[in-house]
Amino acid sequence: MQSNIGLRARQLFFSVVMGLLPNTQQKIFGFGKLLAVGNLFEHQDFSKVLLVTTPGMVKRGVLDRLLSDLTQRKIEAHIFDEVMPDPTDECAMACAQRYNKGGCQAIVAIGGGSVIDCAKIAGALVVNPGKSVTDISGSMRVAKHLPYFIAVPTTAGTGSEVTAGAVITNAQEHFKHPVNDPHLVPDVAILDPQLTLGMPAKLTAYTGIDALSHAVEAYTNRFSQQKTRHAARQAIQTIFANLPQAYENGLDIQARAALLEASYDAGYAITHNYVGYIHAISHAIGALYELPHGYINAILMPHVLRAYGSAVDISLAELAQCAGVSKTGASDKDNATAFITALEKLTVQFGIPHVLEELSKKDFELIAQRALAEGNPTYPVPVIWNKQDVIGVLEAVACG
Ligand SMILES: [Fe+2]
Repeated sequence: MQSNIGLRARQLFFSVVMGLLPNTQQKIFGFGKLLAVGNLFEHQDFSKVLLVTTPGMVKRGVLDRLLSDLTQRKIEAHIFDEVMPDPTDECAMACAQRYNKGGCQAIVAIGGGSVIDCAKIAGALVVNPGKSVTDISGSMRVAKHLPYFIAVPTTAGTGSEVTAGAVITNAQEHFKHPVNDPHLVPDVAILDPQLTLGMPAKLTAYTGIDALSHAVEAYTNRFSQQKTRHAARQAIQTIFANLPQAYENGLDIQARAALLEASYDAGYAITHNYVGYIHAISHAIGALYELPHGYINAILMPHVLRAYGSAVDISLAELAQCAGVSKTGASDKDNATAFITALEKLTVQFGIPHVLEELSKKDFELIAQRALAEGNPTYPVPVIWNKQDVIGVLEAVACG
C-alpha cells in the first residue's frame, strides 16, 4: 500500500481539482417544473431523447403530462423504464443500447438515485463505445462529455442530480463500482418538490439520512473549501429542521421543498470534497446484503464518527451548532459528542436500530478490503485507516 504521505498528496490533488470545478450546471427549482424538460430540449433543437425512469413512475402516470408535452413539441421520447433499486452494469448497458438504437441526442433521468446513476453510467458508456463499466470505474476515467443530460430527482437524498459520481452494482460479484468524474455532473438539475410528495416514511428517512451523511462526510474530510463547507452546513441545518416533519407527514410541502434543496446542497458538497469511509463501508455492505444505502449509512455514521476520534472534534462541534445541539462554553469534544448523540436520536425517531444485526463476521475481511480499495485512493478522509481499523468499526456496528 502507498504511504500515508503518498495517499494524502493524491487526495489533495483530487480535492483541488474537484474544488476548482466551476459550477456550470443550470438549476431549476419549483412546483411543476418537471414540465421545463420539453422547453430545454426544444431550446437545444433535440428531436429524439431517452427518458430513463422506473416502471412505477410510468404506471402511476406521473410522466403523462410531460410525455404529451414532448409529443406536442414533436420530440420523440424513447422510454427506458427498467431501472430497479441498486441498478446493475447490465441495466446500464441495456440503457445505453436503447439510447443508441433510438438515435437519441439527449437523456432525461427522472427518479431516485438509482435511476439517475444508471442513466449517468449509460451516458458514459454511450460516449465511450466498446468500453465496459469496469473500464470507466474509479476516478476520472469517463473523460468525455456525456450527451446533454437533465436530472430530475424524485427523492431527496442521493444528490446525484448535482454530483460528479454514480454507483453501479456488479450483480455477479456483489460489488458496487463507484464512478467519479466531473463529466458526470448533469447539465441541468430540475428540483420539483411535487414529485417527492407522499414518498413513504421509511424512504423519506433513509434518503434524508443519506443526504445528511453526504454533508457530514464532505465537511469532516480534509482539504474542504469554504463553498463546500457552507453548502454542507446549510444542508445539515435544513435536514435536522425538516426531516422529522417530512417523515411524520409526507404531504408537508414546505418540508419536502426544503429537503430537496438540502439534498442538492449536500450533493454539491460531495462533488467538491467527496464522501468518506461511511460511504466506502456502506457500498461494500450494501452490495453483499442488499440493504438500503441510507439505512446502512444511518447505522454506520455514529460508529465511524466516533472511531475518527479527536480528528473530527472541531468539525463536529461546528456541526452541532447547525443541528441546534451545541452548548456555549462546552469543549469541542463535548459538542462533537452532542452532535453524534443528536444523529442517534434522529435515527431512533425513524425506527432505525443502532446496530446492523445482519452483518456477519465472515464478511468483515472482504468488506474492509473493498472499503479501503474505494476510500483510500481518493477520499480525503479525516484519518487514514487500515484493515484492522475498518474491522474494529464493523465489530461495533454488528454488536453495538
Ligand atoms: Fe450516499
